[in-house]
Amino acid sequence: MITCNQKSFNITLKAITKESDVNPLVIKENKEFTLISEEKTLYVCMCPKMTLFKMQAFILDFVKSNNMDLNVDLDSFVEIYQNKEEVLQLLVETFMFANHKQIEMKTEETKHKSYDLIFSAQYENIYENSKIKLEYQNFARDLQDLPPNLGTSITIADKIIEKAKENKEIKVTVYGKKEAVSYGMNLFLAVNAGSNIDPRIVVLEYCGDSSKPKTALVGKGITFDSGGYNLKPGNYLKNMKYDMSGAAVVSATVMALAKRKAKCNVVSVAMLTDNKIGGLATLPESIVKSMNGLNVEIADTDAEGRLVLADGMTYAIREAKAERLFTVATLTGSIFSALGKWQTGVFANNDEFFEEFNQGVLKAQERIWRMPLLSEHLEPLEFTKIADIASCELSNKDGAYSCTAAAFLNQFSEEKPYLHLDIAGTADFDARGLAPMQKSLYELLNK
Ligand code: BES
Ligand code: ZN
Ligand code: ZN
Repeated sequence: MITCNQKSFNITLKAITKESDVNPLVIKENKEFTLISEEKTLYVCMCPKMTLFKMQAFILDFVKSNNMDLNVDLDSFVEIYQNKEEVLQLLVETFMFANHKQIEMKTEETKHKSYDLIFSAQYENIYENSKIKLEYQNFARDLQDLPPNLGTSITIADKIIEKAKENKEIKVTVYGKKEAVSYGMNLFLAVNAGSNIDPRIVVLEYCGDSSKPKTALVGKGITFDSGGYNLKPGNYLKNMKYDMSGAAVVSATVMALAKRKAKCNVVSVAMLTDNKIGGLATLPESIVKSMNGLNVEIADTDAEGRLVLADGMTYAIREAKAERLFTVATLTGSIFSALGKWQTGVFANNDEFFEEFNQGVLKAQERIWRMPLLSEHLEPLEFTKIADIASCELSNKDGAYSCTAAAFLNQFSEEKPYLHLDIAGTADFDARGLAPMQKSLYELLNK
């Protein structure tokens, strides 16, 4: 038996089914608990047909409402299912995720519950892998949760750099406005133009096997999205501190892979700035030359994510020599209309690359939905009379706004295999960052 933190609390949480040979008083419907004090056990009766996603939701709810320090007998949960290793992985990760203490600035600290996970030694390898994933997923979530006055481009960059420097295998490079100017990242700079805070690009490189194709993960790092001159109306400003979630996820993924000493070749590019208004802010209908030379009409300053990502992609291809790439971004409100909080929308210009990623998603037990990427999705952006491409719809609103955003980005993929993950619906919930897709990217690359 392995006990994760040797706490050995008074009470143990144990799962049973209706068929279990225990005190019949314990056998109640799902989600009911019975505490047998002389056994020091809190029993929960589970339905063996419960899907893993339902089980995950159950644990998340349980941890939210529970107010005892507990040992958790993971084997008792695993026993109920056939696919034991998968179940153990999900249990460990969900407990570590649910019980991660939220950053708080209360003068009086709230008490935090502890869990000691207990499981058989045969699962130790799975546990070690999950622990790494969750350390960095929770790091990304802490960055997400920072209030926008504390989580600026500079402070978030500093936190990423500090954490990445814990591992000598990671090459850390940081750029500010000066370097962005010299690379010709004018789209990125156009988003930063209204800001009083210097932008940052944080590049993390890890190579555990140089024979592997170099995969770039480009993350949208808008530390607050006001919309710019196309200012968001009041209630749409809510949660706009989470617009940097993509940058947090891609940076944390590289750190986790490096910690695992994974046999992969990966680089993250975090594009960090806020999107604010002010005398120098970019005006709608401005025309700006991207790093790869395309003249872009900025049709709406609130469609800023695609601008910072476009220059990030060009950097990844031309400077970091990426052979295939991802963008991870809270890109469009429309993806939330389409898929809600349940699935990340994935756009692919290459079926094989999508299939490979999908295997990682299954292993990570996250949820995605493949969205279409048609050549027609570019048409509304080609209506501009004076530039090569518009950043979003100028007037002809044919719908599919998540797809046209992906089509815009694909113009910067230079025909490399490219996947775009729109996490606008999945990045946060209930005022808490979720760092979605970090585990899936990790599983794809952890070979
Ligand atoms: N950051 C937003 C997308 C978003 C909306 C994320 C809601 C999370 C919740 C993005 O920059 C944006 O404003 N997109 C616009 C694009 C439009 C102007 C073409 C949108 O989705 O409305
Ligand atoms: Zn926006
Ligand atoms: Zn945005």
